[in-house]
Amino acid sequence: MLSGKHILLGITGGIAAYKAAALCRLLVKAGAEVQVVMTPLAKQFITPLTMATLSRRPILVEFFDPENGAWNSHVRLGEWADLMLIAPATANTLAKMTHGIADNLLLTSYLSARCPVAVAPAMDLDMYAHTATQENLQTLRRRGVAVVEPDSGELASGLEGKGRLAEPERIAAFVEGLFDEKKKSLSGKRFVVTAGATIEPIDPVRYITNRSTGKMGYALAAELARRGAGVTLVSGRTQLSVPQGVERVEVETAAEMYEAAVAAFEGADGGVMCAAVADYTPAAVADRKIKKSDDDLSIPLKRTRDIAAELGRRKGGRLLVGFALETDHEGEHAAAKLERKNLDFIVLNSLRDAGAGFGVDTNRVTLIDRSGAERLPLMPKSEVAARIVDRMESLLLK
Ligand code: CTP
Repeated sequence: MLSGKHILLGITGGIAAYKAAALCRLLVKAGAEVQVVMTPLAKQFITPLTMATLSRRPILVEFFDPENGAWNSHVRLGEWADLMLIAPATANTLAKMTHGIADNLLLTSYLSARCPVAVAPAMDLDMYAHTATQENLQTLRRRGVAVVEPDSGELASGLEGKGRLAEPERIAAFVEGLFDEKKKSLSGKRFVVTAGATIEPIDPVRYITNRSTGKMGYALAAELARRGAGVTLVSGRTQLSVPQGVERVEVETAAEMYEAAVAAFEGADGGVMCAAVADYTPAAVADRKIKKSDDDLSIPLKRTRDIAAELGRRKGGRLLVGFALETDHEGEHAAAKLERKNLDFIVLNSLRDAGAGFGVDTNRVTLIDRSGAERLPLMPKSEVAARIVDRMESLLLK
């Protein structure tokens, strides 16, 4: 089933490294060509000889061969691979991946890889549960890295809990799933996602913006792409990197976002309007810096165009999802927006909910359509994205 697939199997230095042998065998048996790259510490846990024998190729650890100076090109490895799978992935390697640290061949290969990347974390339960590790995993997920959840059970330390490397069979099945186009429920579909905050200039120095970080919209774009959809992510200002498989169009103002979203909606099967678009913009942008005086200052603002409402007018039979951020009379306001913008459903965030809103990695939302409301529990934004895309899929199938 993995016939002819090139898998770069990264092994890091944890006690679970011994399971990489069984995993490698399963991948080779399924027809994959496996190239093993190990961190220097991983060699202490499983021998290069074992891995070279099972993968039928010399394993790679160092940037170059100290004997003859032959260079192990991480760029070439990155190009060769159809998938980079890091199993086990220690807390240390996950942290380095998150921060772009490149101090061994495995990490430089990761940074060079153009292919999908999957990690199977394995560590002690407290290291796994630590906020640092969880935030790193969250960041990697947001960038499109697939995570094979660890199992719960007895750990090498003798403690019981979550952190045990997933069994090799489960990891191999996960890998097959990644390659199985049939499992890509949205392949052939295309969506426009708007995300992040717009910036409305007042003069060459100042601007009006809002607190949106774009995390929810980026999680949605990543989830749609993971399921095989083409995604145009029309993004306002954000610090986030483009998720795997997503095409990003960067914009600043509400007017630019309008143009880009309307253009991308032409060839799309639907849209998800997640951006925090300014409702007002300065009526005129001063071409020089506005100087202060002793008087108060007011800046005349004019309305921007509503992107969601415009796509709602154009949508025909296509799918359109919107967001609503409310502080009071939440259900009522969201239902009114659903109608006004001709949406199929609307995702309501209430700023009254702890753990929901700007900048955080979790969200608590209610999905509202014309037949009712479904309140979801507090969960990571990546899971909220999966639930939203589940709902979109069920509407597309209708
Ligand atoms: N939206 C949009 N274009 C705008 C404004 C909003 O596409 N110019 C989209 C948002 O991406 C979101 C939804 O519309 O999906 C939010 O609705 P909106 O009525 O604009 O919410 P608020 O900006 O919060 O408006 P209000 O001040 O009425 O609460």
